[in-house]
Amino acid sequence: MTDSNRSATVVADGRPPTLTTLAADGAGMTPSGAAANRGDHIERVLVAGATGKTGRRLVAHLADAPVAIRAMTRSRSKIPALESLGANEVTVGDLMDPDDAAHAVTDVDAVLTCVGSTPLQVYRSDEHVDGRGNRHLVEAAEAAAVSTVVMQSSLGACGDRGSLQARFFRRLVGPVVAAKSRAERAIRDAELRYTIFRPGLLLSYGPDGGTVAEAGTGLWGAVTRGYVAWLMAASLFTPAATDRTFEVAGNPLQRGAGTAIDWRLPR
Ligand SMILES: NC(=O)c1ccc[n+]([C@@H]2O[C@H](COP(=O)([O-])OP(=O)(O)OC[C@H]3O[C@@H](n4cnc5c(N)ncnc54)[C@H](OP(=O)(O)O)[C@@H]3O)[C@@H](O)[C@H]2O)c1
Repeated sequence: MTDSNRSATVVADGRPPTLTTLAADGAGMTPSGAAANRGDHIERVLVAGATGKTGRRLVAHLADAPVAIRAMTRSRSKIPALESLGANEVTVGDLMDPDDAAHAVTDVDAVLTCVGSTPLQVYRSDEHVDGRGNRHLVEAAEAAAVSTVVMQSSLGACGDRGSLQARFFRRLVGPVVAAKSRAERAIRDAELRYTIFRPGLLLSYGPDGGTVAEAGTGLWGAVTRGYVAWLMAASLFTPAATDRTFEVAGNPLQRGAGTAIDWRLPR
């Protein structure tokens, strides 16, 4: 069983599992849902941060979906690993360079970004890939008429009062949260369809699932990278995710705070 047809064990609003997959022909998707598939046809996607702990899971989920995947890394040595995960092509580049960002988005319909700074870079750099790099990506995407951008951000972004954990994130990794906030604003200001996810503490293992709620709800807790990656992939095909920012955390105490969305990932 692949990740993408696994059932959620913790679900938004305590409703039935939110991890839904559809047959490639769209069986199970209402005609209006299929037509309103975020308004356009997504054939090729760029995954920035594809070698990361979330990005690898995102590539694996998308490999089961009817899209071609272009994965991005700064290291040529990581190309074989990305190809074996399911990437159809790999672009080598650094998002801190706007030309590399422009090259990466050429001829893609959607951009999904899970890039992030290393702990050492958080305080040692003035500019972070979370901010400047993502902004280059957004500018390039808008210039290339890419339809959709999906971003992995963080609880605490954009100064939303949020939970104690959101405020803790702002204290602990303030420069990076501020950088992500600038990237979020650039996305919302751009002529693009977008979905932004602000997860709580990321885990590499554990049961997938969690609560997905409107930004500012005040979620707190941990969530698996696998679930965040699945939501990012599904947001491309879930009309209700259009132009929205969500908090994500797997805290059973907050199940009732979730937004009921029928997330769908076609196969
Ligand atoms: N840790 C947490 O609890 C937590 C909580 C909330 C949100 N987040 C955020 O979630 C996101 C994903 O986290 P993760 O742990 O899965 O990430 P990760 O494993 O640290 O991966 C980071 C990725 O960013 C890419 N990258 C870094 N600098 C780049 C640059 N200049 N140009 C292009 N790509 C670059 C790396 O690619 P290459 O090295 O291959 O180039 C790598 O694929 C991050 O934004 C993180 O801040 C984390």
